[in-house]
Amino acid sequence: METNPPKRRDNKKSLRVKVISLGNAEVGKSCIIKRYCEKRFVPKYLATIGIDYGVTKVQVRDREIKVNIFDMAGHPFFYEVRNEFYKDSQGVLLVYDVGLRESFDALDSWLGEMKQEMGSQANMDSIVFIVCANKEVKMSASCLCRAARASTRCFRYAHTHTLSQPLPQDTEGRSERHVFVLSQAFFSSITDMCENGGKRPVAEVSMAFTKEQADTIRRIRNSKDSWDMLGVKPGATREEVNKAYRKLAVLLHPDKCVAPGSEDAFKAVVNARTSLLKNIK
Ligand code: GTP
Ligand code: MG
Repeated sequence: METNPPKRRDNKKSLRVKVISLGNAEVGKSCIIKRYCEKRFVPKYLATIGIDYGVTKVQVRDREIKVNIFDMAGHPFFYEVRNEFYKDSQGVLLVYDVGLRESFDALDSWLGEMKQEMGSQANMDSIVFIVCANKEVKMSASCLCRAARASTRCFRYAHTHTLSQPLPQDTEGRSERHVFVLSQAFFSSITDMCENGGKRPVAEVSMAFTKEQADTIRRIRNSKDSWDMLGVKPGATREEVNKAYRKLAVLLHPDKCVAPGSEDAFKAVVNARTSLLKNIK
C-alpha cells in the first residue's frame, strides 16, 4: 500500500522579504550589506555597478526570515539600472556618511526617486525605513559630538518623514554590534508589519519630544542673559548654577532630545554655564 509522503514542515513561519539600500555613492552601503550577509569588511572602494545582490536569513521570534537585499549603486550614472528594483520592497536601508553633510541632505532625493519609480501605487506607509549614519570609526571627543549631532539629525529626519524604527546610532560597517542591532530592530519591524497585514504597528520607540523640552527650548531662546537661561537668580552660587545646568543638560542632551532646536539650546546652556562659572568665586 502506498503511503502518503510525509508532510513538509509547515512553512507558515518562514517569510521572504525584499530590502533595498539607498544613498549616495561611497557612503558604505555595500560594506554594510557585505558585512551583514557575508561577515566580511571590504576596505577598498569597489563601486557597485547598477545593482548588487545579497541574501541572508535571520530569525525573528519564531520566524525564519529570508532576506533578499538589492544593493543599489549610488552613482547617478546607474539610474537606468537601479530604477527597476524599487517595487515590492518591504524594507529600505537609507545610508549616509556621517562626515559628509551632503550625503545626509541627499536622502530626500533618494526617497523622491523611490516614490517616482513606484508610481501611483507607491505606498510608503507599508515599508520599513532605517536611517544609517555610517563611517564613524575614531571616537575622539569631536567624533563623539559629531556622532551625537548625526544621531539627532537622523531622529529628526525620521520623525519628519514618519519613518519607522530609525536607528540613531552610527551603523559603522565594521562593528558586529551595530550590524546586529540593525538586523534585529529592522527585521523585527518588517515582520511586525507583515504580521499586521502590511500596516505599521505602533512604534515601540517614541520619536516624540515632551512639552517640557519644547517649552524649555523656547525659554532658552528668549532668555535675556546667562542667569536667565539657566533659570537661576543673578548672584547664584556655583552649586546652584551647576544644579540648574545638570537639569537642563539631562533634558536637552542631543542623545536624549529630538525636539527641534535642542542642539543649539544645549550648546547655549553649556556656554552660559561656562561664562557664569568664570565669574563666580
Ligand atoms: P556605491 O556602490 O558607489 O554606491 O558606494 P557604496 O555606498 O556601496 O560604498 P562602499 O560600501 O563600496 O564603501 C565605500 C568606501 O567606504 C569603501 O572604501 C569602504 O571601505 C569605506 N567604508 C565603508 N564603511 C566604512 C566604515 O564604517 N568606516 C570606514 N572608515 N570606512 C568605511
Ligand atoms: Mg555599493
